[in-house]
Amino acid sequence: MSFDTVLLEKLRSARHLVVFSGAGMSAESGIPTFRDAQTGLWAQYRAEDLATPDAFRRDPVTVWNWYAWRRAMMRERQPNAGHLAVARLERLLPEVNVITQNVDGLHQAAGSGSVIELHGNIHGSRCFDCGRTSGEADGANGIDIPPRCTYCGGMLRPAVVWFGEALPMQAWQRAEDIVTDADLFLCVGTSSLVEPAASLPRLARSRGCTVVQINPDVTAHDAIAQFVLRGKAGGVLPGLLAAAWPDDS
Ligand code: OAD
Repeated sequence: MSFDTVLLEKLRSARHLVVFSGAGMSAESGIPTFRDAQTGLWAQYRAEDLATPDAFRRDPVTVWNWYAWRRAMMRERQPNAGHLAVARLERLLPEVNVITQNVDGLHQAAGSGSVIELHGNIHGSRCFDCGRTSGEADGANGIDIPPRCTYCGGMLRPAVVWFGEALPMQAWQRAEDIVTDADLFLCVGTSSLVEPAASLPRLARSRGCTVVQINPDVTAHDAIAQFVLRGKAGGVLPGLLAAAWPDDS
């Protein structure tokens, strides 16, 4: 893939780069995207039917087990070349912030130091009743499914944002502040269908920031991007860095 020389110069001279990622960022690590059909044991369920407070109230065991299956799957996955390229950008530019919709923790595992998780992190838990956070294993006595809160005895739930729930206010506010200050915004591996996260590329563009879309498929936000790089994160991102910094091994 060849890259527009204007884009390469904008990347090299970026003062504040934001990388906004979705499930496509982790697809090459072997983690299905939301728009992929559920696989195997969970084929008969839709993510939208399991990742809600009502589903948890109705059937906490099934929802907890679905997340336990996803946690175990994600623990086996490694960052891909796209995650590693994003982490390398922190070494090449004055300021880089990652804002992710993903809950898999792979940006941090790749070495990115500033990661805002808009939708939480699957490896954490919190009490469905008192809200107290706990580690993945806390309260797990091997008997109770879901495990119980060691503080109030309520059921633990995964520390992720479910459909119909508000984003963590602090994370959202920080994301908006960061996007408002950015001069380059890479939108990677997201269908840009879920609000309010999908409003961030629009906010970036409205603030005069250069927006770059990296996705093998057409997305709802291609029209607001000055540059659309049609390809996979694991190939396009390393290629972009190699083209912008050919002497940086
Ligand atoms: P989606 O599954 O909606 O979209 C994934 C995007 O990644 C699609 O546009 C794919 O074309 C693209 N894609 C697939 N493989 C790719 C690759 N190798 N490299 C780059 N892009 C690739 O996932 P999200 O946009 O992240 O919300 O979904 C946003 C939110 O919707 C999720 O965070 C989740 C879901 O409801 C919550 O859980 C609250």
